[in-house]
Amino acid sequence: MKHDLKSELESILPREYFSYIPRSFDIIGSKGRSVAIIEIPEQLKVYEHEIAKAIIRVHKNVVSVLSKDTERFGEYRIRDMRLLYGDPNTEVLHKESGCIFKIDPKKAYFSPRESTERERFRSTPLGDEEVLVMFSGIGPLAICMAKNNPNIKVTAIELNPDAYYYCQENIRLNKLNGKIEAILGDVREVCPKLNKKFDRILMPLPKGAYKFLDVALDVLKFSGILHFYHWAPKENLWEEAENILTEIADEFHRKVEILNRIKISAYSPSLWKIRIDARIN
Ligand SMILES: C[S@@+](CC[C@H](N)C(=O)[O-])C[C@H]1O[C@@H](n2cnc3c(N)ncnc32)[C@H](O)[C@@H]1O
Repeated sequence: MKHDLKSELESILPREYFSYIPRSFDIIGSKGRSVAIIEIPEQLKVYEHEIAKAIIRVHKNVVSVLSKDTERFGEYRIRDMRLLYGDPNTEVLHKESGCIFKIDPKKAYFSPRESTERERFRSTPLGDEEVLVMFSGIGPLAICMAKNNPNIKVTAIELNPDAYYYCQENIRLNKLNGKIEAILGDVREVCPKLNKKFDRILMPLPKGAYKFLDVALDVLKFSGILHFYHWAPKENLWEEAENILTEIADEFHRKVEILNRIKISAYSPSLWKIRIDARIN
């Protein structure tokens, strides 16, 4: 988000450091209590505590400032974060378009930057469907869909116990008990035991969702819809993902009908996070 952190820091930092001041950072939470997450450039490390204090002065709702110390890593897709200043309790309630998400960003994946993607699901009317959200994290996609679609039933599977805990909390906070079932576990182990087929499956794990396409196709109904996420090379966004999808579908003797191609966000200078929606006949 845009902010006037730069003017706040102008009286503190020597002029030669001004150009390194981050232009933006994430804020997760509500008007009452939020956490800021900032990536401090190497050149400004000696001033990191001053920068954190300045953020808290500028944004009155920010109670803690965390530094992004690594990229996201591992199966849980979290990163190392360090408290630079403020309250060590970094659990907050994030409010977004009528939904509420309890989250500690140190413990589970959540990106405030993906609100547009969540809005796409929130605003898509669905009929009487059985929906599976693989890699469901703290539950934002499941909750966005279930909030506006009283006739769907959602199963949400997540591997990280902390994310699963928050997913259960969020189902309760959004009054969706009985509409979303949260399950802790690896989709590869859980899905075959569900004894259920789904009308729609979301696979929001751009790093490696393709490795679970066999698991998804096995539980997707005939003519079901798949929302497949992938990190795609910037210069050729769709080919790799569509080829992988078609290859796996072939193994299941099923046909892929592409419905939608969505460019979500830049992941790195060379990779984009994309989503392909396909009907699998
Ligand atoms: C990129 S995050 C997305 C989380 C959530 N859908 C969201 O939009 O905030 C991917 C999630 O998948 C979970 N995950 C990774 N491998 C998994 C597996 N084999 N089975 C279940 N969940 C898995 C991670 O713990 C992580 O929370």
